[in-house]
Amino acid sequence: MRLSCIIYFLVLFSIISCSKDDTADVEPKPVLKHRNLRPLFHYSPQENWMNDPNGMVYYDGVYHLFYQYYPDGTNWGPMHWAHTVSNDLFHWEDKGIALYPDDLGYIFSGSAVVDKNNTAGFKSNDNDPLVAIFTHHKSSNGLQTQSLAYSTDKGETWTKYEGNPVLENPGIVDFRDPKVIWHEPTQKWIMSLAVLDHVSFYSSPNLIEWSLESEFGAGIGAQGGVWECPDLFPLQVEGSDEIKWVLLVSINPGGPNGGSATQYFIGSFDGTTFSSETNEINWVDNGFDNYAGVTWSNIPDSDGRRIFLGWMSNWVYAVATPTEGWRGEMTIPLELKLIQKNDKYVLAFEPVAELNNLMSDDDALIIDTPQKSIELENNSIVEYGSYWAEIEIENINDFEIKTGNGLESIFIRYDKVTSTLSIDRSDCGMSDFDQLFKKEIKCEIQPSEGEIVLDLIVDQSSLEILINGGEKVMTALFFSKYKYNSISINGSSDNAFIQHFKITPIQKSVIR
Ligand code: FRU
Repeated sequence: MRLSCIIYFLVLFSIISCSKDDTADVEPKPVLKHRNLRPLFHYSPQENWMNDPNGMVYYDGVYHLFYQYYPDGTNWGPMHWAHTVSNDLFHWEDKGIALYPDDLGYIFSGSAVVDKNNTAGFKSNDNDPLVAIFTHHKSSNGLQTQSLAYSTDKGETWTKYEGNPVLENPGIVDFRDPKVIWHEPTQKWIMSLAVLDHVSFYSSPNLIEWSLESEFGAGIGAQGGVWECPDLFPLQVEGSDEIKWVLLVSINPGGPNGGSATQYFIGSFDGTTFSSETNEINWVDNGFDNYAGVTWSNIPDSDGRRIFLGWMSNWVYAVATPTEGWRGEMTIPLELKLIQKNDKYVLAFEPVAELNNLMSDDDALIIDTPQKSIELENNSIVEYGSYWAEIEIENINDFEIKTGNGLESIFIRYDKVTSTLSIDRSDCGMSDFDQLFKKEIKCEIQPSEGEIVLDLIVDQSSLEILINGGEKVMTALFFSKYKYNSISINGSSDNAFIQHFKITPIQKSVIR
């Protein structure tokens, strides 16, 4: 009897210790589905590598988007321009490769315009010629020149200009990314070109002959890296007739959180010279993953929007992100607004209205009575992986928003003492591929009339936070092994501080 008792306890003990040992090495098995990291409503290539958006032009009802593309792998390589088109900025039809590398070099970033007056002489039928102005990068010596390609069939096919390059290299290694606009008052084309630590402005009557007008930027703004991908355009100040000129300049490295980022200047442009009115450094995005963004050309006056698109990655870890078969995604197309705040002007970024067509209030969860906390566990809206959450906070104290799955989470925290919003993705799932990726990033934000309004737009592997109507933006990629199925908001005080919460899945009629 005593022996059997001892044997019984020995067996029981060995079962317990054995089951402990077994689980010690084995990853917990969540009842969660594996994630598909490819976004639903952000543009991403079906396969292989993508970086900067290029040649963005609207013509005859179609938004054209080209982008830096390497068709033979998921890392950066000899650059091509791939082409995709859309009627609504969300459903894209891929058109393959428009421009291949040639004897003059790889095809680096650039822009496209509609040559309505046929200034370059490429017109051959009723269509207006579309002209792409891009950088040829010679890998043998690293020197860059500017070249043209044109299309007389509304962007279907592209021919490189036989007189390329149209702008020779003056002996400077970083000399690239031409963005061209038509300057109505002087009846000239203006090219903004990134030249090492400044932007050079060139003018041309015909897109073929270019003369240097002026230079802007040496010693001004952020200078922690090379200037790239400029964009100069006029923008009307909201609520007034005043027009200001905006200059976007990407910089790599030297961004606010390390790595690459885009700064902007607001000022005036007289057809020759750009003068900035901004003294401090302004960032398009205070997160990690919004680079090389520029705006569409030729949006009709009847529409009047200035629409921006950035590459949603950071050169620090762009080649290491854990996606399979494809790499690179774009931001949401964002409409730019110029607003006056006290004595200065700032850019605000709003998702283009077309995004609303992918959502329905019938699918939304709306909580309109003030809450102390919100906990959505195993929530089907979140679990789908693509959603928009609107959160209005009053009686502001420290608070934390967490989205995750019990094993993996992202934290968004507000710290009242420092007035900062932070994103911490160190525990988001797959984050070991880079140290900077794991760093918590912070952005100073000012409550507006005692309120903080956050719009969180999540799409499988990306989080875009628009703060107080997009006056500040924080974008961060994240990669988790399993789908996130929960979201919670908690505060440090006992107040019912969440005034309004609305979460809507974005899942209908999307293609990718
Ligand atoms: C910006 C950039 C551009 C260049 C392109 C090359 O991300 O470095 O300056 O044209 O990418 O792919």
